[in-house]
Amino acid sequence: MASLSPSLLACNFFELEKNLDILKNKGIRYLHLDVMDGNFVPNISFGPAIIKQIREKYPEFIFDCHLMVNKPENVINDILDAGADIITFHPEATFHPHRIIQTVHKAGKKCGLALNPSTGLESCKYIIDDLDIILVMSVNPGFGGQSFIESQYLKLIDARNMIKASKKDIILEVDGGVKTSNIDKVLESGADLIVSGSDVFNHNIESQLDIYNQKLKR
Ligand code: DX5
Ligand code: ZN
Repeated sequence: MASLSPSLLACNFFELEKNLDILKNKGIRYLHLDVMDGNFVPNISFGPAIIKQIREKYPEFIFDCHLMVNKPENVINDILDAGADIITFHPEATFHPHRIIQTVHKAGKKCGLALNPSTGLESCKYIIDDLDIILVMSVNPGFGGQSFIESQYLKLIDARNMIKASKKDIILEVDGGVKTSNIDKVLESGADLIVSGSDVFNHNIESQLDIYNQKLKR
């Protein structure tokens, strides 16, 4: 069954605790944490210190940390120490993607590549045996609230086929512009970890989660 990974980027941080309690009570297992450096992407979010504080209060969530930073190797150990369970990073942001994957695996955590809309699946091909996750970005990274880029449905289908052929249990994550109105198509295209930010937090969170939970059960 597919899972929802709500992105805290869209959460009102003055209501963080209340909202995290709602997620917990609705049975949400993943939290998507977007780390942005104002360099790889034109926005700045939060880093290891904030992730650590959330981790201390909420040990039960699976921390799905999406690094939109240049030279992720410079922050990877701090993100691991902060409590990440999953780390995804962008292959364009480093000369040595495979070395980062090795570092994350040495810490016993899951690692994957996050692919920009124009980035092909080729970057996964020769390291597929070392990937736990492929993250298809369905918007240009940097901001919440953008529209799903339609061409990324095809990338999801291709990625799902690549995963099938690998015979490995790789998670196919999708991030950006997912809403209750397009999640059916996103699921049909093969995604099994679904990030949603603004569509969860900018509405009544409880009723949005009920809709997502219902659709994910099918
Ligand atoms: C965008 C981030 C996303 C973002 C998704 O760069 O990686 O995780 O929070 O937000 P929505 O669901 O609003 O597109
Ligand atoms: Zn993200």
